[in-house]
Amino acid sequence: MKRLNPPPRLLMGPGPINCYPRVLSAMSTQLIGQYDPVMTGYMNEVMQLYRQVFNTENTATLLIDGTSRAGIEAVLVSCIEPGDKVLVPVFGRFGHLLQEIAERAGAEVHTIEVPWGQVFSPDQVEDAIKKIRPKVLAMVQGDTSTTMLQPLQQLGEICRRYDVLFYSDATASIGGNPFETDQWQLDAVSVGLQKCLGGPSGSAPITLSERYVELVRKRHHVEAGIRSEHHENGSASRIRSNYFDIPMILDYWGEERLNHHTEATSMLYCARECAINLLEEGQANCIARHALHGNAMAQGASGLNLRLFGDQKHKMNNVVGVYIPENVNGEQIRSQLLNDFNIEIGTSFGPLHGKIWRLGTMGYNARKDAVLHTLQSLETVLRRAGHKLSPGEAIDNALEVYQSA
Ligand SMILES: Cc1ncc(COP(=O)(O)O)c(C=O)c1O
Repeated sequence: MKRLNPPPRLLMGPGPINCYPRVLSAMSTQLIGQYDPVMTGYMNEVMQLYRQVFNTENTATLLIDGTSRAGIEAVLVSCIEPGDKVLVPVFGRFGHLLQEIAERAGAEVHTIEVPWGQVFSPDQVEDAIKKIRPKVLAMVQGDTSTTMLQPLQQLGEICRRYDVLFYSDATASIGGNPFETDQWQLDAVSVGLQKCLGGPSGSAPITLSERYVELVRKRHHVEAGIRSEHHENGSASRIRSNYFDIPMILDYWGEERLNHHTEATSMLYCARECAINLLEEGQANCIARHALHGNAMAQGASGLNLRLFGDQKHKMNNVVGVYIPENVNGEQIRSQLLNDFNIEIGTSFGPLHGKIWRLGTMGYNARKDAVLHTLQSLETVLRRAGHKLSPGEAIDNALEVYQSA
């Protein structure tokens, strides 16, 4: 086999995206033992850093090893006992994923839906909570499949009023859009690195409120091989996954340092670097950067005579959806962009598959040159495929956004 030598792609889809170079070099840092005080020191630093990323005081702020859905699964499987009611408002593919994971955890899942391209009003969610009386509200913040950003600000207060645990999957939105765990009264949040945080997939930072931790502690059952006399079983049922058993994972990340899995050291290095990178730039600056380049991409796409998809008032900063023009073959355009220009853009899933393209501007790729290269290349490919457009308008539109910023 040949040496590993991937082509130098520019990843301008909905994620993953190219890593920040400093994150890549963190990943190739030498390993140390999992109980080395330097390593446990790094684990503590990661907890501290992600409290700032999530804007929370939650002690229980840590990493789940695995891609973003590992974080989702850990949060849900640890708090859902079979038969518990869970409400999932679905506005795209990832709402269906929350539904699927909650169902597999044994929940009685209730969904409400809006058409893809829209988001829910607080009243719609409150009405459903009143009717269903769920134990958990599980909701995506930024659903990359539709590019929509669900406002969460008012939902935490509603959840508290009805004694509902409030969980959000902010994988695709954190770092590029505002997220306030404590202010919005969330009980659990999970994310991933491969979007606006600018890292590889493979680590899922999570944060958990005291209320959430108290609840899952009742399900604490330490596995036999590492159990001591002082470990007592919780009063509630044992969590159905060992790997995603949050009380045991908390024992590992907490003072007891009770062994659970072997922490994925290289991914922890990456997660640490992603957080430092974000905090050094400043969260507000990073969000503003995503808004600027996202807007330049959207205006540029309009200049290509492409119609923007979805409710633009609720668009994520970091990804824009555009309808694929009827007179071109969407997959052919994507493959020409990839093969001739080394640029990757995305299509979507389910009802939007083959109907929209998704153009991402996130993390390391939320940059002027990346936006301009993508627009210029897309213009060439579209023009040659016979799509009607005014040459130069896309770049002019984008440059206008930059000039007026
Ligand atoms: C909102 C959201 N949730 C979950 C996921 C799943 O992430 P992963 O593929 O890292 O498990 C994604 C991935 O695109 C996502 O955008």
